[in-house]
Amino acid sequence: MRFWKSFIATAAVALLPWAAGAQTVKIGIINTYSGPNATLGEQIDNAIKLHLKEYEKNLPPGVKIELIRRDDTGPNPEVAKRLAQELITRDKVNMLAGVVWTPNAFAIAPLATEAKVPFMIMNAGTSAITTTSPYIARVSFTLWQSSYPMGQWAAKNNIKRAYVAVSDFGPGHDAEAAFIKGFSDGGGQIVGQVRMPLANPDFVPFMQRVKDAKPEALFVFIPAGRQATAIMKAFGDLGLGQAGIKLIGPGDITTDEELPNMGDVALGVITVHHYTSAATRPANQAFVQAWKREYGQNSIPAFMAVGGWDGMAAILHAVREQKGRIDPDRTMALWKGWKNDQSPRGPIMIDPETRDIVQNEYVRRVERVGGALANVEFETIPAVKDPWKIINDKK
Ligand code: PHB
Repeated sequence: MRFWKSFIATAAVALLPWAAGAQTVKIGIINTYSGPNATLGEQIDNAIKLHLKEYEKNLPPGVKIELIRRDDTGPNPEVAKRLAQELITRDKVNMLAGVVWTPNAFAIAPLATEAKVPFMIMNAGTSAITTTSPYIARVSFTLWQSSYPMGQWAAKNNIKRAYVAVSDFGPGHDAEAAFIKGFSDGGGQIVGQVRMPLANPDFVPFMQRVKDAKPEALFVFIPAGRQATAIMKAFGDLGLGQAGIKLIGPGDITTDEELPNMGDVALGVITVHHYTSAATRPANQAFVQAWKREYGQNSIPAFMAVGGWDGMAAILHAVREQKGRIDPDRTMALWKGWKNDQSPRGPIMIDPETRDIVQNEYVRRVERVGGALANVEFETIPAVKDPWKIINDKK
């Protein structure tokens, strides 16, 4: 009798999670955890972990999230493709997420389509990425969203002659085209253009060329992280600022977490971007506070962290709505039109037609705030859709 009682009790406990609809949702995270760009992967990863820690409690009973992390080591499309393949076929993930780099996102896209695995992009910013698979949605940004209004703003604000220098890969090409269109349509003149290597660039010779061309402004795109500080230093060391050249660009060039490494040369740099950790919106202040509590007072969440944070919000939304039983097409339907007015960056939406993010862009200036450098917003361009898709009528 005793035996049967305890047997039944044990069996009931074992069956309980099943009866309550126990589900583990597997998310394959492809991100850069090593190499010279590991600080970028760390931003995204810390945001994913923090979001999950704060909001896991809102999942339906019995539903769990399992994160399976894989290191693409940097902009390496072959590695990214192999990792996605393994995550899909061996680990049987329900969704893919992450991806700092455009070439990696392009490499994963056909696999997401073939296997019908929803793929939430948390960084990679080349406009065309979302057009390469119906299973991709993006919660980060496009370079067109920042660099096109940057060009318009420069033309409107009395800059007549600009030089354009970008990293020679997808987002650089987009930033270049977007800035040139915005600036030239507004009457500005491009006096020089250069594409710089993505791997191990020495920026000094490029900055010398720019100085010799004597533009009023230099528009730059390089990937955020260490390269942002390196080009800022080259700009300073060669005296471009003293020569009267204004540095402008998308927010990647003054990424918040690198500002403490840049020094005063960054003061006055004007950028357009969707996020600064210095923003005073209550949702942002709460986010920055939670981040510092978790990762230390000196740790600064930058735009890549916000991509990870909001990406997890969209993922948890889809998991909650399906009570952990993930259907790929239903997931995509739930992401299309998903809105969040509590993002640290301001209100956001995933455009139901393009599956790309719609968000405010802010014009910002690097200033000293309470002894530290900060990107201070002074103008808002509300609800910006990817201009590349509008201009080229792309879905
Ligand atoms: C990208 O590969 O799309 C990318 C990488 C770094 C950035 C922005 C975009 O800062």
